[in-house]
Amino acid sequence: MARRKIFAGNWKMYKKRQEALDLVKGLLAGIADIGEREVVVFPPSPWAKDVADLCRGSQMAVGMQNMHFEQEGAFTGEVSPLMVKDAGCRYILIGHSERRHVFGETDDDVNKKVMTALKNDIEPVICVGELLKEREKGLTEEVLKRQVVKGLAGVSAEQMKNIVIAYEPVWAIGTGKVATPDIADEAHRFIRKVVEGLYDAKTADLVPVLYGGSVKPDNIAGLFAKEHIDGVLVGGASLKVDSFLDIVRVK
Ligand code: 13P
Repeated sequence: MARRKIFAGNWKMYKKRQEALDLVKGLLAGIADIGEREVVVFPPSPWAKDVADLCRGSQMAVGMQNMHFEQEGAFTGEVSPLMVKDAGCRYILIGHSERRHVFGETDDDVNKKVMTALKNDIEPVICVGELLKEREKGLTEEVLKRQVVKGLAGVSAEQMKNIVIAYEPVWAIGTGKVATPDIADEAHRFIRKVVEGLYDAKTADLVPVLYGGSVKPDNIAGLFAKEHIDGVLVGGASLKVDSFLDIVRVK
């Protein structure tokens, strides 16, 4: 079985409501003929339901960028997995580097969110990636292994069918410094090896691993050509119809 190919746009804290709807409409018009590729957008939470309503029946799925690990409760300002599901979202981003490094999310938080998402039938996109200083100290594999192993603790081989991993080296996010296709492919290969160690070769072979960090129309082809790069998680370049469509439609 071939691995799924996924092109995802993380809009972060950009786009007012009408801008979000216009962007989605433009994207929907441009993806009708892309074949097997999956397209996913992660709009700001307040617009997730509106975006999901527009995407119903199309090839584009919707996710939220973050949620709490409890089903509900006195957690002011948080979004529960029940609400993510109710809004029509299929995916949830978990452990994005901005959540880890700006908001202090730990591997333990990431794992709790992964387990809650699975329980609620929401597919986690688990983000992992090393800081520049970790790469410079030769710690990349150690960091990736820790984040993958802890993030997946308690996830069964069966549940792995609903997991996506995104490798986003922190030094490449929003910096314009994209990882070379070789560097990214090597990290993806390593992540797959870690998954194989936890489960088996078949599970590792099937898990989609996306690359994120300064992906643009002019560097997508080299990245997507690599054996272990199954798609991308795009920030800045996903905010415009033309640039995201150029990425999604890469040859
Ligand atoms: P940029 O594509 O803007 O570097 O952002 C990447 C990212 O964080 C996607 O989640």
